Amino acid sequence: MKLRTTCIGVVVALFIMVTFWGCGSKDTLPATVTFTEHVAPILYRNCTICHRPGGSAHFALVTYDDARKSAVSSAFAVKEQLMPPWPADPHYTEFIGQRILSDRDKKIIQQWADEGAPEGPKDKMPALPGYPVGSLAGTPDMSIPVQPYFLKANSSDKFLLVKVPFELPADTFASLIEFIPGNRNVVHHVNGDMVKYEFDKKKNVFADLRIVNMEEDTASLKQAFEKLGIPNDDGTYPVLRKSVVNYLPGAYGQRYPEGVGGYSLPRKGVFLLNDVHYGFTNKDDVLDSSYINIFFAKGPPKRPVQEFQIGTLSSFGTAPVLPDLVILPNTVKPVYCEYTIPEDISVLTINPHMHLLGKSFKAYAVTLAGDTIRLISIPRWDFNWQYFYTFRKMVKIPGGSTMIAEGVYDNTRQNLNNPFSPPQLVQEVQGSMRARDEMFQFIVTYVPYKEGDENISLETPGTTR
Ligand code: HEC
Repeated sequence: MKLRTTCIGVVVALFIMVTFWGCGSKDTLPATVTFTEHVAPILYRNCTICHRPGGSAHFALVTYDDARKSAVSSAFAVKEQLMPPWPADPHYTEFIGQRILSDRDKKIIQQWADEGAPEGPKDKMPALPGYPVGSLAGTPDMSIPVQPYFLKANSSDKFLLVKVPFELPADTFASLIEFIPGNRNVVHHVNGDMVKYEFDKKKNVFADLRIVNMEEDTASLKQAFEKLGIPNDDGTYPVLRKSVVNYLPGAYGQRYPEGVGGYSLPRKGVFLLNDVHYGFTNKDDVLDSSYINIFFAKGPPKRPVQEFQIGTLSSFGTAPVLPDLVILPNTVKPVYCEYTIPEDISVLTINPHMHLLGKSFKAYAVTLAGDTIRLISIPRWDFNWQYFYTFRKMVKIPGGSTMIAEGVYDNTRQNLNNPFSPPQLVQEVQGSMRARDEMFQFIVTYVPYKEGDENISLETPGTTR
């Protein structure tokens, strides 16, 4: 009897909830949309991490005045899914930290803009969330400054290769390595590797140039490495550990759950920041003083993260871009590359990479049984937002599966990012990272599979935003 009453209670409660959701406030829009009541909460949840004073965007969306000025462009940007920037299709696969506006949120911003962007009652204004200054992960054990760089007003975007040398008292271990931009407004993105020296093979890691401009100063990556003094003293090359420190506005270093990931740090080493991309600035001599934070770990990584890349500069030399990355002017060209996964792996993070002619990108794996494992779909490539996408849970790919990455390039005038007008022949130039040469790359970080990995959540609160 008691049980039955409870059951009826639950059914009634469910009925009320369903009815409430069905015709309640979720789908219908408020009669009058105001900034303080409806719009500010959406902006604070989805936009102000970048659109605030000191944030990465060049204008704020914090106060009523800020937002009112951008009401029409904001409505357009969210309708077209340009903002918040998240090029991956959330219907294909979901990732940690994804920023997607619901249709209702988009309609609210649209209606607010259409109705002349009214302010609403001042006492309804929500509080702006607190944003961390410096690290998101606590107090680092060590911070290494990146050599400051002076930008000139009205200069074009800069792509730099930056060396950040370090020397430690002993070999040690780290759980997280984090890039903190000095000036969020101009540091656009950073992908950083670590060069690990054997102690006796390199006398002075601090010698030679610290910064090379990839577009202007060098013909090839090898030449750039030489200018930066990357080789050992005898001219041989040290070990390079890829993608240890990455940054994009709104996305920070990823700390994996206990037992996964981590790094061995050599006594002598160099962080090699590829593609340090400084955007356009209208002020002269903007000083950017960025730094790298290191969080030490007690022991060696139990399951060190491994990485491979397919396509341009493929880790295996066996997964080249097909048919080839030669894109004739006035053509749209599809390419692909594929790689057979030799053993069971658990994928953590993926990074699709193309330059300015990129139009779309898709990657998936097909198992021996013919099942498709979705990895990522980017229907509209955006050069500016090349995230390292981390899965919510590890994704198992059984050995023998074929991993396939497909890209489409648009070398027509319709591509507004085309670096050439009229369009010109653009191709992959091995070793060139210049934005006007093309690349097609898919970087995968993983650990060898262990029973139960697919249930391990990669979301660790506080380290990813
Ligand atoms: C991850 C950081 C980030 C987030 C989150 C973000 N923006 Fe932006 N937004 C930018 C940056 C950076 C630019 C400037 C692009 C540039 O400088 O060319 C920009 C540009 C814009 C523009 C101007 C587009 C143009 O034509 O220049 C609008 C409007 C805009 N954002 C609105 C929004 C709104 C509304 C949201 C939230 C729903 C949002 N943004 C979330 C970083 C962000």
